[in-house]
Amino acid sequence: MAESQKIKELISSERIAARITELGAEIAADYSGKELVLVGVLKGSFLFMADLARAIPGHDVLIDFLGLASYGDASNSSGVVQITADLTKPIAGKHVLIVEDIVDTGLTMEYLLENLRTRHPASVRLCSLLHKPERAVKQVQIDYLGFTVPDLFVVGYGLDYAQRYRNLPFIGVLE
Ligand code: PRP
Repeated sequence: MAESQKIKELISSERIAARITELGAEIAADYSGKELVLVGVLKGSFLFMADLARAIPGHDVLIDFLGLASYGDASNSSGVVQITADLTKPIAGKHVLIVEDIVDTGLTMEYLLENLRTRHPASVRLCSLLHKPERAVKQVQIDYLGFTVPDLFVVGYGLDYAQRYRNLPFIGVLE
């Protein structure tokens, strides 16, 4: 950890784990009897995906990822989004659940939802660990939400600041 930057814990690893257990149970019940494709949005979702997938152990689940880059400065997304790595399999006719670490302005998710719908899945829903409603530019429906967070720079549990801090086991605030 950089000596100059302090991280204050906002959401402990225990609270994250407990909430993911609840989300997993809800998702398993809602998709009962249906095959589900979990689509993780890299890089931020890698830890959330790993834990969420393990919270629905009895379910028929396929795992895929895609990479997105949004053009903007370090802390602001511009809404111009590029797919840097695409899904490995078609999703036509599949039930898709996007697994995202945070919905901030909503611009990334608006783009992704629109993009995935053109591939004719049976359904598309969104599961996001965090939501920062104060920053919303586009209203995006989050079907499964972990936590609402205030307008602070959050890092950890997959979220970065200049590519660092993704490995923290909790969500913290960069002071
Ligand atoms: C973050 C996050 C979301 C997006 C949310 O990704 O993972 O994809 O920003 O912001 P928005 O709602 O304002 O569009 P980032 O571009 O930082 O990439 P990363 O996942 O590799 O950290």
